[in-house]
Amino acid sequence: MAGIHSGNLILINASHPHMESRRPALAPAVPGSSVLLEARAAAMLTGALERIGALGEIVPVSGWRSNGEQREIWEGSMAESGEDFTRKYVALPGCSEHETGLAIDLALRADEIDFIRPDFPCDGVCRRFRDIAADYGFIERYPAGKEHITGIAAEPWHFRYVGRPHARVMREMGLALEEYVEFLRGYPYPGELLCAGGGGYEAEIGFTRCYGTHIAPSSPYQVSGNNVDGYILTLWRLPA
Ligand code: DAL
Ligand code: ZN
Repeated sequence: MAGIHSGNLILINASHPHMESRRPALAPAVPGSSVLLEARAAAMLTGALERIGALGEIVPVSGWRSNGEQREIWEGSMAESGEDFTRKYVALPGCSEHETGLAIDLALRADEIDFIRPDFPCDGVCRRFRDIAADYGFIERYPAGKEHITGIAAEPWHFRYVGRPHARVMREMGLALEEYVEFLRGYPYPGELLCAGGGGYEAEIGFTRCYGTHIAPSSPYQVSGNNVDGYILTLWRLPA
């Protein structure tokens, strides 16, 4: 059984630390890369970049980080760039979604790439990636205008894998992950669930505080903890 602190939809921020101590199953973020991601997220990232012909042009900069690496990045940034900058652009060790393996920093290929703030412009191939990212389950996790909600400055290079129906809903509704986790409380399971779909699939999404054997939807489903107080269910509707 999945725990509250694991799954694609766990909310990680300064108020909700990463609690899962097991290392995720990791894979190269794209074939041949030394940057690692949770295996499913890696496959979806590779698929997205292949679709727009951007493998090699958009490059992974930072994916899964151990807690120790996140601490080194935090301490290095504090020493080099000071506290204001660091609090804006580096999550506290233990509170970085990079520690889950579900977050990836991307850059346009260049001779020199800034590790903390890689260049991922609004146009060209990066724009094409943004246009399809949600179809592959990725959201831009720290958008401009949501700094007061996420607690992190705008990071147009940082994408988070949450899974396809969720990424599309968040993009269409303009919700940050913090807001989405709250929003789903309005769809308690069993009850009227949130319908999501497009691109050849349909899903229903709901929230439950308790997950156990009494939850037995009649269709295939996935469950993820929200890392706060419950579970998000994704029920797939199969074609009749
Ligand atoms: N740059 C993001 C906030 C992190 O360090 O996880
Ligand atoms: Zn990042």
